[in-house]
Amino acid sequence: MKFDFHSHILPGIDDGAKDIEESVRLLDDMAADGVDLVVATPHFYCMNMRIDKYLSNRNHAFEKLRPYLKPEHPHILLGGEILYDHSLVGNEKLPLLTMQNTGFILLEMPYAKLTDQIIRGVEQIIEDRQVKVIIAHIERYLKFTSYKSLCELMNLDVIGQINAESLMHFGSRRNCFKLIEDGYVHIMGTDMHRIERGYASLGKGMEILRKKYGNNILEDFERNGKMLLKNFSFEQIVG
Ligand SMILES: [Fe+2]
Repeated sequence: MKFDFHSHILPGIDDGAKDIEESVRLLDDMAADGVDLVVATPHFYCMNMRIDKYLSNRNHAFEKLRPYLKPEHPHILLGGEILYDHSLVGNEKLPLLTMQNTGFILLEMPYAKLTDQIIRGVEQIIEDRQVKVIIAHIERYLKFTSYKSLCELMNLDVIGQINAESLMHFGSRRNCFKLIEDGYVHIMGTDMHRIERGYASLGKGMEILRKKYGNNILEDFERNGKMLLKNFSFEQIVG
């Protein structure tokens, strides 16, 4: 089964699909690619908007889209891509931002050097045990931070997600391979935004991984995805 854990397919809510028509076209592409389930993860920036307002906007965008969904479209779960901010640490509303039917949040790191303060903040979120943490597109931070600091973050009890598109380009593919070989990658997503950017095929990304590592890696990702959707603990998924 193909699970896409990161996407911006909801209409008019962030820098993803601008309207219902574009949402439907993105979902058509995902259906053609054989995606079974997609998590809609619109951006959430806590400095710009209250959590309640964000959730009501997101749910409203989904309700607008719902009548246009086709039977062949992937099943949609609601979630969010939450940009890390120190004010999220200890925030009792954090569980409201979890992926539907799970206790996991998809956490995006700031596009800057990963400081000790940020890493300790993520650690505190995990220790508070209100939510479990998936780090979004972990390969992208290597443009801004060292491999060593990224490892420090990924050595916490976090699930790692990579973007299928990063497997299509030489430099980012090399980073993905290194992260996979070091055991930091557990699930994939497309991070699909706009139709004009082209569909970053989950299927093509999976094919690249199959050629490099064999079927086992895809079976592992599928198993991780199923466990995550059933809200297993970090230890159960990674252990
Ligand atoms: Fe994203």
